[in-house]
Amino acid sequence: MLLGTQKVNQHNHLEIGGCDAVELAAEFGTPLYVVDEALVTHNCVVYKQAFDREYGDYAIAYAGKAFIVTAMCALMAKLDMWLDVASAGELYTALKGNFPPERILFHGNYKTLQELQMAIAYGVGFVVVDSFVELDQLSSTAQAAGRIQPILIRCNPGVDPHTHRLISTGKEDSKFGFNIKDGSAMAAVKRALELPGIELHGIHCHIGSQLLEVTPYTEAAPVMTGFLKQVRDEVGVVLSVLDMGGGLGIRYLPEHHPPSIDELARSLSRAVLEGIAEAGLSKPKLFVEPGRSIVGEAGTTLYTVGPIKEVNIPEPPGKRVYVSVDGGLSDNPRPALYDALYSALIANKAGDEPTYDYTISGRHCETDMLIPHIKLPRVETGDILAVQSTGAYNYSMASNYNRFTRPPVVFVRDGKVDLVVRRETLDDLLKCDLLPDRLA
Ligand code: LLP
Repeated sequence: MLLGTQKVNQHNHLEIGGCDAVELAAEFGTPLYVVDEALVTHNCVVYKQAFDREYGDYAIAYAGKAFIVTAMCALMAKLDMWLDVASAGELYTALKGNFPPERILFHGNYKTLQELQMAIAYGVGFVVVDSFVELDQLSSTAQAAGRIQPILIRCNPGVDPHTHRLISTGKEDSKFGFNIKDGSAMAAVKRALELPGIELHGIHCHIGSQLLEVTPYTEAAPVMTGFLKQVRDEVGVVLSVLDMGGGLGIRYLPEHHPPSIDELARSLSRAVLEGIAEAGLSKPKLFVEPGRSIVGEAGTTLYTVGPIKEVNIPEPPGKRVYVSVDGGLSDNPRPALYDALYSALIANKAGDEPTYDYTISGRHCETDMLIPHIKLPRVETGDILAVQSTGAYNYSMASNYNRFTRPPVVFVRDGKVDLVVRRETLDDLLKCDLLPDRLA
């Protein structure tokens, strides 16, 4: 499987964005996150064209939680995207990347008072309110600041997205948002309309992530448009924004066939347009918040292969060959958290037949399996392993477990490379440590 601008070059090496992956590994060291900037750009453009064609009045808000660094925010700003942030840290990164605050949506089921103050002070486009406590706090904070903060209400449409339970968020049994069915969402709308300092513009939902069908969207859309109708009928207010969240899945393995961005735009737009036509409502501005489907397939992590070890296994009887690489749990916690599966290539043997079975392990002090089973060409110590589709929720979820330094990130495009996050140093690991005098 080759993704985006990936190809096999004349040296039988993996090339990404016109750059030889083996040379990138030599220049920047490993582990290394490589981002295919042309693919990121392409995905944003495809999203915009598709929703423009299928719906008309739309906004595409990149979900920063998937991968957010200053350069990514600057790229999203250049592409005229909106941005979804979920913490003060993500908001701060966006502002440092010169992202216009009026195109930012601020999410979270528990935004701290400081975060609400910061969102108001910088003038974010919408705060997506998740609880009654937040409504009250936001109202008083905005009033104290002499501002009117535009908001959306996060609703729970009660739809099962059939994805991993840890990334399923739109069911009624969820910590997020106000349930529509039990009347909480209507109560929140009424409260929002009463409170000073805030201005209710619309409603939001996010059903789940890595969705491999469009059905959850087409099931959620009528629930949301039905709720817009209920709001008009009960309180006489026509809301102008409908945000349907993110969630479109990507290819981690060749056998994954997620709906295309075009398919999502077509099905979702039709479901929304039908719903509003039935309700006799005017067309709200439609927001979507893709994260993974913008950046996931655009990311590749390069590792250097270290020890290789063969063991006998009883069930089924045979052998297993462990290939250890110079990263693991700290740069990609997704296999451990979600049993996530990945595809990979040997970057320096990219065109060779994958005929041998391997298990790829990390180098942390536990059984951090990155890929339980994979076929690759014969692997040798010193080879460069390129794990694909690591652009979303890898760098953003990376940790310093075992005091590993987090890897650098490069953007590649048209044969050029830009370092956008440098490798952490050992001193970076200590920058927040303090040594009390009595222990010195
Ligand atoms: N909007 C909201 C409100 C969200 O909560 C999320 C993701 C998104 C948009 C973007 O969803 P996407 O298009 O990326 O699926 N750490 C997990 C994923 C958690 C997703 C949380 N919310 C993982 O590694 O799979």
